[in-house]
Amino acid sequence: MTKITYITSDNKLHEIDVQNGLTVMEGAVQNDIPGIDADCGGGMACATCHVYVQDKWFNELPKKEDGEEDMLDMAFEPKQNSRLSCQLVVSDELDGLTVNIPSKQG
Ligand code: FES
Repeated sequence: MTKITYITSDNKLHEIDVQNGLTVMEGAVQNDIPGIDADCGGGMACATCHVYVQDKWFNELPKKEDGEEDMLDMAFEPKQNSRLSCQLVVSDELDGLTVNIPSKQG
């Protein structure tokens, strides 16, 4: 289990223990975190799992694939630290990862 903190658009912190091997998106969906709809089920085809990764963590994550970059271009207010949470696989190395959920998704 790895602790992931989701901050929803109303600034509420949700600290969740997510099983390693799941994605950050799956951890949110399984725990009813509002704002991560994941309409495509993790297929990198919807951008409704878009999150902002806190700076401290951004460079620790595996690099984006081209498909993720393309999909983020269509996300709500993408920023430098945007990622698709369905592409982030939870592991011990990500313990403490904190992500913000964009307001449009909240
Ligand atoms: S769940 Fe659709 S792109 Fe991540």
